[in-house]
Amino acid sequence: MDGNGRWAKQRGLKRTEGHAAGEHALFDTVEGALDIGLEWMTVYAFSTENWRRPVDEVRYLMNFNENLLLRRRDELHERGVRVRFIGRRGGRVPGRLRRQISDAEELTRRNRTMTLTFAFNYGGRAELVDAARAIGHEVAAGRLVPDKITDRTVARNLYAPDMPDPDLLVRTSGEFRISNYLLWELAYAELVFTDVLWPDFRREHLFEAIREYQRRERRFGAVDG
Ligand code: IPE
Ligand code: MG
Repeated sequence: MDGNGRWAKQRGLKRTEGHAAGEHALFDTVEGALDIGLEWMTVYAFSTENWRRPVDEVRYLMNFNENLLLRRRDELHERGVRVRFIGRRGGRVPGRLRRQISDAEELTRRNRTMTLTFAFNYGGRAELVDAARAIGHEVAAGRLVPDKITDRTVARNLYAPDMPDPDLLVRTSGEFRISNYLLWELAYAELVFTDVLWPDFRREHLFEAIREYQRRERRFGAVDG
């Protein structure tokens, strides 16, 4: 969900007002995703690198996310959305936000219409480091021999082992980067880039990205059949 700061700057607003405007973009997109029957959607809300931002902006984002979960979790629940989080829970994430995260996950955990995953305090490298540590512990405990480590060993040690690999990645705001997002999971994803800044993103932009996806030919390393 990139481009909030530039969106605000273009309007002579504070960066934080760009983040606030991103909420409508997110919920319009979620509604659109529900309408077309999308079962999995993951959004990059805060990266392990975003801690480098000014303290005021970081504080704003922590409060904003806490508050958003509190205000929105019931409507997500009513719409059959399972809310989940991937990322490092501990560290600098404030306790109050951590509690809102657990509460929203707990409230919605039986829902299956759509799984909406927030990547928060998330980094693709951190996720792989955490997986490597968990695998190391299995080896040390004598439950796994190193030669038996496969793709599946890594995959089952990711933050959301049951999440299917994404088919489509949409990157907003005219940047052409992965920025440490779902590094393992995106191995065969189709990438769609748009100049739209996140606060201007609407369900129609998601639909357009999906139409673009449908025009692609996916071969997964093989040749066409
Ligand atoms: C994305 O918008 C929101 C977060 C990373 C929390 P940015 O804040 O990165 O907006 P730009 O890239 O400065 O325009
Ligand atoms: Mg940015």
